[in-house]
Amino acid sequence: MPNLQTKERKGILPVSKGTVLITGASSGIGAALARQFAKNDYDLVITARREKSLQELKDSIDSGISIEVVRCDLTDSNGPDELIKAIEAKSIDVDILINNAGIAASGKFDELDQEDIDNLLSLNILALTRLTRHYAEMMVQRGSGRILNVASVAAFQPVPSMNVYAASKAYVLSLTESLSEELRGTGVSVSALCPGLTQTEMVDSLAAQNAPPFLVSSADDVAKEGFDALMAKDVIRIPGLANQAAVTWAQHQPRWLIRGLGGLFSRLKP
Ligand SMILES: NC(=O)c1ccc[n+]([C@@H]2O[C@H](COP(=O)([O-])OP(=O)(O)OC[C@H]3O[C@@H](n4cnc5c(N)ncnc54)[C@H](OP(=O)(O)O)[C@@H]3O)[C@@H](O)[C@H]2O)c1
Repeated sequence: MPNLQTKERKGILPVSKGTVLITGASSGIGAALARQFAKNDYDLVITARREKSLQELKDSIDSGISIEVVRCDLTDSNGPDELIKAIEAKSIDVDILINNAGIAASGKFDELDQEDIDNLLSLNILALTRLTRHYAEMMVQRGSGRILNVASVAAFQPVPSMNVYAASKAYVLSLTESLSEELRGTGVSVSALCPGLTQTEMVDSLAAQNAPPFLVSSADDVAKEGFDALMAKDVIRIPGLANQAAVTWAQHQPRWLIRGLGGLFSRLKP
C-alpha cells in the first residue's frame, strides 16, 4: 500500500491544500518538487514519459496525500491536450501548474540534429505555452491559482553552444514576466524559477558535469526555492548566491561584452 501509509495508520490524514500538476516529475528538479509539495500536504498529478519512475516516486512518498500518475510525451503535438483530457477525465481541478519538463541541447547550431531542435522547442516552448494557456484560463475563471515555470539562468543572456536551449528559456522568462503583469488582480500568480547548474540527469548528459562542485546545486535545494517562490508569488527566483551574483553582474554589462565572453568560452571548450 504505497501512499496512505504512516499518516493514515496514525489516523492523521492531512487536509489537502490543493492539487499541483508537475510536468517532468520522473527525475531531477521535477521529482524534488513533487516531494516538496507532498511534504506540504498538496495532492499531486505527476507526469512524464517514464511511467515506472513516476510510479516509484509515488510509492516513495509517504504522506497521505493523493498522487495521480499520468504518462505523457509532451513533444507529441497533441501531448499537452491528451494530458489535459486525462486530468479532466479524473475530475481533477489543477490549483497549481508547474511547467518543469525541459530538455537541453548543446553544440554548434549548424551541427545540431534538426529533430533534437524540434523536440526541444516542442517541449520547452509549445507544451509549456499550451498548458499555461489552458490552466491560466481555468484559474482566472476560478479567481485563484498559481503557475511556476522552470526557466534557467541561461534565460538572461545568449549562450553560444547552448543556443536554442538558452533562447527557449529566454522565451519562458519573457512569457512569465508578461503574464505576471497581465494577470495582476485576477488572483492568479505566475513565477519563473531560474536555476543555475543543478545536479540532475540533464547535467549528467552535458559537458557541464565538469563544473566545480560549489557551482552545482542539489535538486532538493532548487525545488525548495521553487516552492518558496510560488508561495511568495515572486515573479523571478534565482536559487543560489553565486547564480544571483552572476546574473546581476551580467545585467549591468553591455550586451556585446556578455555575448563576446560567451562566444570566447564556447570556443575555449575542449
Ligand atoms: N539541471 C540543470 O542544471 C538545470 C538548470 C536550469 C534549468 N533547468 C531546467 O529544469 C527543468 C528540469 O530539468 P532537470 O535538470 O531536472 O533534468 P531531468 O532530470 O533530465 O528532468 C527532465 C524531466 O523532463 C521530462 N521530459 C523530458 N522529455 C519529455 C517529454 N518528451 N515529455 C514529457 N516529459 C519529458 C523527463 O521525464 P521523462 O524522460 O520520463 O519523459 C524528466 O522528468 C528543465 O526545464 C530544465 O531546463 C535545469
